[in-house]
Amino acid sequence: MLLDWKGQSIQVRELGEGPAVVLVHGYPLDGAMWSGVARALSRSHRVFKPDLPGRGENPSAADGTIDGYADFIEAVMAQLPAPVGLAGFSMGGYVALALAKRDPAALRALALVDSRAGSDDDAGRKARDAAIDSVRAGGAAAIMDTMIEKLLAPASLGNASLVERLRRMILRQKTETLESDLTAMRDRPDSTEFLPRLKIPTIVLAGEHDIIAPPAEGRSMAEAIPGARFVPIAGAGHLSPMERPGAVAAALQDFFSSALGSPSG
Ligand code: MLT
Repeated sequence: MLLDWKGQSIQVRELGEGPAVVLVHGYPLDGAMWSGVARALSRSHRVFKPDLPGRGENPSAADGTIDGYADFIEAVMAQLPAPVGLAGFSMGGYVALALAKRDPAALRALALVDSRAGSDDDAGRKARDAAIDSVRAGGAAAIMDTMIEKLLAPASLGNASLVERLRRMILRQKTETLESDLTAMRDRPDSTEFLPRLKIPTIVLAGEHDIIAPPAEGRSMAEAIPGARFVPIAGAGHLSPMERPGAVAAALQDFFSSALGSPSG
């Protein structure tokens, strides 16, 4: 799909047919992190994996706010026939929550994958500032090794092809985009009080060994959202969509088919 966005024509990758599902990536990544999940999910859904501003096929400027990223995803959704499902991974989940607060009529189902509702505490904000200093000094390479260790479960660190794909994805990110992501995450609002007001079907997924958005936090997020389901992803760390694409796709397929209706029924 081609999207007109702030005077630019932006390619949004899509695959499959059926009810539309938009997958929002996390930091320091791009839409390619969803490739394995998107392939599997496209057997039943029309799947979109946009690059947020400032990366991949999206040359528009990243403005350093979660709301700015949500504006872009809202523009993608506005091109799609209702009902639309939205899945946000980690920072993408912060974006998805910002969008859900706006209550767009087409949005009928929400998946929060390895994400959190709280904001950064003081120590977290300081760590973001330190990471901003690092990327300013050394670009993506400066945060790569630390991030890979945080993103993957210990067992996944032994998967050479996964680690190599992840390295390449991180290294292609621009300094100013990483700075925008870090600023946006540092300043994101606390959405905990919004959770009980979420009125659309919601699922929360978390990797069993996630150290960025621990499963206990995912479980309490699901408990706070009316009717939400919590699905742990066995063996995965934070980056469950790349570590366990089959399990994540199966959970999303089951959820979106029942929440959005399947093409056959
Ligand atoms: C992400 O995976 O998008 C980020 O690591 C989330 C975060 O640092 O809060």
